[in-house]
Amino acid sequence: TARTATGGNIEAAWQALRDEAASCRRCSLYKNATQTVFGEGPLDAAMMLIGEQPGDQEDLAGRPFVGPAGQVLDTALGEAGIDRARLYVTNAVKHFKFTPRGKRRIHAKPDSGEIEACRWWVEQEKMLVKPKVSVALGATAARSLLGKTVTIGRERGRPIELAGGGVGWITVHPSYLLRIPEADRAAEETNRFVADLKAAYALA
Ligand code: URA
Repeated sequence: TARTATGGNIEAAWQALRDEAASCRRCSLYKNATQTVFGEGPLDAAMMLIGEQPGDQEDLAGRPFVGPAGQVLDTALGEAGIDRARLYVTNAVKHFKFTPRGKRRIHAKPDSGEIEACRWWVEQEKMLVKPKVSVALGATAARSLLGKTVTIGRERGRPIELAGGGVGWITVHPSYLLRIPEADRAAEETNRFVADLKAAYALA
């Protein structure tokens, strides 16, 4: 296929993009973060997952979704019968934003300026990978994917035609599931999350 013939070029373009992102100064988050956490996964992936931003562990490891939220995600993908190794996984914002509290670094929400600044990278990743389906995990990712603020509850669980081609799919962020105190509701919401992932992957 044409894709195979140009595969080397895409790989090289992605490497160049990743290298460029390592010294990104599009917003000020680079100042306190350890490193840029770029997306990863096969460049011919049919589905892309977009998270919010790296957390504490991702910031240190330099890889997306390797901490607690990543564990929830991995479990959900497993239940949905999806192999994570077949997905391109990235974040809307590529530097960890936090507030220091003693020795700990507490997650801080990226603002609209930071999401907009970093959106450029996500768009570049999308242009290289050309996923059939892009799944936004949570409000920050949804804003990045759609270029506007949306309500998760209203937009989740159905295909959304994207301006740049492909289909968007909105669902909750895995760390939302970690914050639900009641076991019953947490299980219910987790099942919904798994169902969302499964339905999105069926379109990929
Ligand atoms: N949460 C995210 O949104 N992305 C990560 O990479 C880790 C946690």
